[in-house]
Amino acid sequence: MQKLFIKETKKLNGEVFVQGSKNSVLPIFAATILCSSPCILHNCPKLSDVDVTLEILKHLGAKVTREGSDVFIDATKVYECSVPRDLMSRMRSSIVFLGPMLSLMGRANIFLPGGCDLGPRPIDLHLSALSKLGAKFEKSDELLYCSLNHIFKGSTIALRVPSVGATENIILSAVLAKGETIIENAAREPEIYDLCNFLNLCGAKIYSDNVGNIRIVGVDKLHGIEYSVMPDRIVAATFMSATAITGGNVVIKKVNDRHLKAVIEVFERMGCKVLTSKNEIRIISKKHLSSVDFIKTVPYPGFPTDAQPILMAPFAISQGTTVFCESIFKDRYKHVDEFLKMGANIKVNGKIAVVKGVKEIIGTDVMARDLRGAAALLVLSLIAKGETVLDGLKHLDRGYENIVEELNGLGANIKRM
Ligand code: EPZ
Repeated sequence: MQKLFIKETKKLNGEVFVQGSKNSVLPIFAATILCSSPCILHNCPKLSDVDVTLEILKHLGAKVTREGSDVFIDATKVYECSVPRDLMSRMRSSIVFLGPMLSLMGRANIFLPGGCDLGPRPIDLHLSALSKLGAKFEKSDELLYCSLNHIFKGSTIALRVPSVGATENIILSAVLAKGETIIENAAREPEIYDLCNFLNLCGAKIYSDNVGNIRIVGVDKLHGIEYSVMPDRIVAATFMSATAITGGNVVIKKVNDRHLKAVIEVFERMGCKVLTSKNEIRIISKKHLSSVDFIKTVPYPGFPTDAQPILMAPFAISQGTTVFCESIFKDRYKHVDEFLKMGANIKVNGKIAVVKGVKEIIGTDVMARDLRGAAALLVLSLIAKGETVLDGLKHLDRGYENIVEELNGLGANIKRM
């Protein structure tokens, strides 16, 4: 089992490039099975979740080849309508194959999806929405038998919460449906618009008012295209956090600063200087970081839940007290116990985490329990006295392509052994 050995770092300095977005590329891969000709996708990060999605595509009958960050997918001969338990359970976004499989083959037998354990992650919104479009479901133990009479029929769907995955599944079901589908209270994350953009270029008719209403007019056919996936905003936030905590000065390249407005605002309130220009963010951090009274995670365009653990790291050594409120997932403070082992002062009570900045963080053995928690521990370890040994790298590998090499390139001292 590999671990990271992280030594205390001086200020991070230099330039770093951001990989393509994990949460964007996964639904786009699922969308390719709706295309009647092959697709070439650029800027696809090399991650274990991406590998699993490509395995699902191959299992369904698609031809897949990868060269660096380019992936060629010919899904024109997809025939298989079940996904094995092992592949479904390895990540959450396996569920977004449900809509496209039903749309294409009228049947899909799937197991419940896996993914980070952040508390309950039901799929009721996916299933009720797809039922409204005409799907039928029968559950037997963990296997879900899904079927569709003929084709999906457009309808109006009002989501109880703006679920990212459910919005993607509805869009993917509705693009080839008969008639018009309206999603009210749709998720507005940039990854949703990347998927819509991809599908519209393939011939879909998706219209959004950018305030949570999406209208999809079903078309008869989609064709394959060449497309470049958007940059990963949470990876960019991770580099910003690593720079902030070490008092560094780093230019983050190939990034879209408009996707990071709420995160940038928090870094500025922390005392960092953030300069944005086309596809670049420079972050300059000062020695003493300030606390911020209250940070609540909310759906986009608010402060993202995925950035909560990652930004908690610099607040652990800031001057003063920062209160986090995690409103999206019930159990997304798993990193806190490990932060405490390193000398942080944090008290969690339900949705609330009260972070009192301390003067010193001490390196020790810590265990990552989910993807962004792993990134948070890595960031905190950069300023820990002595050495930190980070275990649980399978979580980190789900979302970060070359983070050890990138951070070392900026001056960190991390070994993977
Ligand atoms: C996506 O998960 C992301 N994953 C998550 O990123 C991200 O944290 C999350 O959106 C919120 O932004 C991918 O895109 C692969 P949701 P998803 O459906 O789609 C409740 C990361 O670290 N809900 O928007 O699973 C749910 O319990 C990952 O990269 C229902 O109640 O999130 C949660 O409280 C972790 N019923 C809320 O909605 C449903 O059927 C938001 O979940 C679906 C969701």
